Amino acid sequence: MNTSISSSASASAALPRIVVLATGGTIAGSSSDATSTAGYQAGVIGVGELLDAVPSLSSVAQIQSEQIASIDSKDMTLELWSTLAQRVNVLLATDAVDGIVITHGTDTLEETAYLLHLTVKSTKPVVLTAAMRPSTALSADGPLNLLNAVTVAASQAAHGQGVLVAFNNRIHSARDVVKTSTYAIDAFQSPEVGALGWVQDGRVDFHRSAMRPHTVASEFSVGANWPLVDIVSSYAGASRVPVDALVDAGVRGIVVAGTGNGSIHATVQQALVDAVAHGVAVVRASRVGSGHVMRNGAASDDALGFVAAGSLNPYKARVLLMLTLAMGTSGPTALQRAFDTY
Ligand code: SIN
Repeated sequence: MNTSISSSASASAALPRIVVLATGGTIAGSSSDATSTAGYQAGVIGVGELLDAVPSLSSVAQIQSEQIASIDSKDMTLELWSTLAQRVNVLLATDAVDGIVITHGTDTLEETAYLLHLTVKSTKPVVLTAAMRPSTALSADGPLNLLNAVTVAASQAAHGQGVLVAFNNRIHSARDVVKTSTYAIDAFQSPEVGALGWVQDGRVDFHRSAMRPHTVASEFSVGANWPLVDIVSSYAGASRVPVDALVDAGVRGIVVAGTGNGSIHATVQQALVDAVAHGVAVVRASRVGSGHVMRNGAASDDALGFVAAGSLNPYKARVLLMLTLAMGTSGPTALQRAFDTY
């Protein structure tokens, strides 16, 4: 981790003190062609250059910055999650920091955001942002997203709201937000429940709060050891090969991205029942993209030893399952309680 810190010289001492942690992504992407919004290299522009592109930041907050990583977020690792979560908690524990903004790639942003939502131990704002277009593109969306994210992190209204995602003028809860488009600049949505609020021209407005426990009310923390948890999918003609291979590899948990309301191809379902018999935790989620998976709905969870993911998509369900197993919690009853709570 490169932790070099730079300060904005023009910042007013009265403004909130926000640390920008950069991890890479398209917001830090670069292409030699300004008309190229799909063919570019993610995560190559440093945090100093990102901040320099938005001079008006200095009238919103006193900014410090750290380059935590420079990756395309498809390559996010569990080790980097640990580093990031621990750094956020250390920074927020000091009186010298009022809030944090994390620049991230859009591809796994929803996973990182939910992980932090459950493991940050502070009521101070933590706001993730990103971009769909690289920094070199015509109409790049990164600079305004960054300004808006810092504006949210600097606002009193964002305290106690859990980890937030500021994107395309909307403020989303980390629990609900998902990437829904491969190219559109309004790619992030919170299906079923909608955004928490909006940010525009320096104004921040919340319409609702996140209902489920998070941050200081969450029982989870990030350690160095991550239980092996993977995701399989159900589809026409699916085989049991992936599930059997994961069980042979020693996974502690499997999330299944089921069809519809978490229904599972009979062949895959039998493999998952066999996995449960080997002590593997099995969580039923849905590949549909919105709605929730009902316990004992499309499969008899009580009889099969499965857990229903509720409204968490498979990728967020994996995050919660890893955190829960890491605490030593096991068995479908205790795991279901975690999914019903968070
Ligand atoms: C990434 O996730 O790092 C690349 C894609 C993006 O940020 O939009």
